[in-house]
Amino acid sequence: MSMKSGFRRISQVLLATCAMAAVSSALAEAGRASPQPGAMSDTDVADKVDTLLAKMTDEEKAGQLSQYFYFSQFPPLAQKVDKEIAAGRAGAVLFTTDPKLVNRAQKIAVEQTRLKIPLLFGFDVIHGFHTIFPAPLGMAASWDPAMVEQAQSVAAAEARAVGMHWTFAPMVDITLDPRWGRIFEGAGEDPYLGAAMAAAQVRGFQGRHIGAPGHIIAGPKHFAGYGAAMGGRDYDEAEISENQLHNLYLPPFKAAIDAGAGNIMSAYMALNGVPATADHWLLTDVLRRQWGFKGWVVSDSGAVNSLVTHGVASDGAEAALKAIKAGTNMEMIPPGQNANMVSLPAAIAAGKLSRTELDAMVRPILAAKFRMGLFENPYVDEAKAKTVFDDPKHALAARITAERSAVLLRNEGNLLPLDHAKLKSIAVIGPLADSARDLMGSWVFPMNSPSGKSVLAGLREKLGTKVAVAYAEGVQIPQRVNPSPFGTLDGTNKKREPIDETAGVAQAVAIARQSDVAVLVLGESQDMSGEMASRATFELPGRQRELLDAVVATGKPVVLLLTSVRPLTIFDSKAAAILDLWYPGSQGADAAVNLLFGDAVPGGKLPISWLRSASQAPMTYARLPSHAPADAFKRYQEGSNEPAWPFGFGLSYTTFRYSDLKVTTPKVAPGHSVTVTVNLENSGKRTGDEVAQLYLHQKVGGSSRPVRQLKGFQRVTLKPSEKRALRFTITPADLSYWSDITKEQVQDESAFDVWIGGDSLASLAGTFEVAK
Ligand code: NOJ
Repeated sequence: MSMKSGFRRISQVLLATCAMAAVSSALAEAGRASPQPGAMSDTDVADKVDTLLAKMTDEEKAGQLSQYFYFSQFPPLAQKVDKEIAAGRAGAVLFTTDPKLVNRAQKIAVEQTRLKIPLLFGFDVIHGFHTIFPAPLGMAASWDPAMVEQAQSVAAAEARAVGMHWTFAPMVDITLDPRWGRIFEGAGEDPYLGAAMAAAQVRGFQGRHIGAPGHIIAGPKHFAGYGAAMGGRDYDEAEISENQLHNLYLPPFKAAIDAGAGNIMSAYMALNGVPATADHWLLTDVLRRQWGFKGWVVSDSGAVNSLVTHGVASDGAEAALKAIKAGTNMEMIPPGQNANMVSLPAAIAAGKLSRTELDAMVRPILAAKFRMGLFENPYVDEAKAKTVFDDPKHALAARITAERSAVLLRNEGNLLPLDHAKLKSIAVIGPLADSARDLMGSWVFPMNSPSGKSVLAGLREKLGTKVAVAYAEGVQIPQRVNPSPFGTLDGTNKKREPIDETAGVAQAVAIARQSDVAVLVLGESQDMSGEMASRATFELPGRQRELLDAVVATGKPVVLLLTSVRPLTIFDSKAAAILDLWYPGSQGADAAVNLLFGDAVPGGKLPISWLRSASQAPMTYARLPSHAPADAFKRYQEGSNEPAWPFGFGLSYTTFRYSDLKVTTPKVAPGHSVTVTVNLENSGKRTGDEVAQLYLHQKVGGSSRPVRQLKGFQRVTLKPSEKRALRFTITPADLSYWSDITKEQVQDESAFDVWIGGDSLASLAGTFEVAK
């Protein structure tokens, strides 16, 4: 199925279903307030850019290539940036989100510089600005690109309202290694799902075109291969074969560029020995020449300077030259550091760089400023943010997104949903049960002015006085040994008073004994994933596992709500129900309560394989066939290496039955599409969602191809006993791959297996053949 038709179909399915139609239109309204006026034409933009460039000195051009962090809370740093702006040595800033301060900095650029070129303001709008949506990995678990597009559209509206023009998102790095903390920001392990989520987010952030009102420029990152950081250790090198690069890591970037992304961020690490920020092949040959990217590349923060650290430049001037020559347009400068791009005029004078090369690097930055309308209106309306933040549709969108992202991993004896009418008492337990902030996850700072409530508060609100709600924290999540780089900004580095955890476990057991049901909220605190947040283990941090086991041992029914993005080692616990909320965002508590009581029905599916332990990483369901295939899950002598739950897995409060898989075109010539149909029936007693997934295996060809690969999905809502005939179109692109033999995209003649079902172990199968 092509991405576009999949997207259209998902929207149609959403709209065709009565309940979802309301949801979808509320989301759509929240995301797209009014029809967008047309974009500026390319020739118009090019003319304006050329006219301006002709007036600029080399120093002014180099100034456009610097982006400064702007922290008003640290006056000496802010004053230094003010000076650089006034001198025309800044093209963009980041990390100031107070509209007053945005206007203040913009006024310096517009009134004090010779050519009055406005600044671009950027920020990490990763999963919401004021209204916080689930962690991007959680949103990917919705398998609902249309909804994710709408969520990022809301995020864009809020960010634009405080004066932002640009986000360093979506993060589209594929990773097979959940030890890597930045798994939080991506769409998981699969390039097909990853590409769908990448394109959807770009559309959501940017709207119909760059410069659409209420929207911001998207900057997919980190180009490329950052998700393969060795050992899951953030910033470490990535060694990726051409085969993996083209077939696994690059497709989501290509999808983001095809969707029109205006910017891209180069990665920190060295890819196969070449630091990405100085990689001409990546930034010029692939990105610009092959893919036709017309926007600008920003380095990750300090990544130009890092060329010296990497040992490919001897000083900052050489680093700037190498970065520019490779195709990096703009340097993101860490707080307190100096710009390297200021050395480029000297490089021109020394004959090391031509003015044409410099102009080519400046052009797309100026073009973005014209497209965003900044020359006509550089300022933000300081009163607007509040009205935008207070739009109730934003909170609704965040709640629905959280509900649709949750994945039900276990539900023994149909413990969930809990019956509100029968419940008399509930024990709410765990170090994350009374935390609103941890539900939001990483990339949320005080400048986001987020607000939310905890699961405990949400339950109290829902249950009122009719149900006795008892609470025990039980144990604490230990503070990090190596602190988070954001700890000073969000306060997590402050030393915490320890509690008596032995007494805490005893108290939790006592309240569980007195209650009808125990709900434990466990997992990782918000600072345990994101940047510089890798882990060497997937065990529940601290004594949470002891707490869980002790409560389970009471014999009371136990619901485990998980907040984290890692496949935590909980499959061997005896909790009867396990619901993964990821980090569900600012409306996460209400979403959790709705899911617990059946006002929402879980329908998310895993975007990663749930490994048994960290020592099994990296791993993917889409492995290649190999020797002794019957023992594929006996590769370690200690036991099974089969994931605890497979990629694509997720339960519902209802059940689904697949039947009648038919390949309507059993033999096609290369270059033609294949159509597969299947019947899906809600065989249970509740309305619910199923994500029907189509997997392929190419049997013979020039290269060994994965045992299964996702090539289509549809999330559908069905009432009890309702049946739906689903139709998937497999395009020639879906049947092709990048070949290490021919060094290009190929489509082999081959027989194919096809499966459709509710996860990557789907058993309903068919075959077809591609032959001349
Ligand atoms: C470093 C991170 O790697 C990148 O993702 C982020 O956008 C920048 N810092 C700016 O915060």
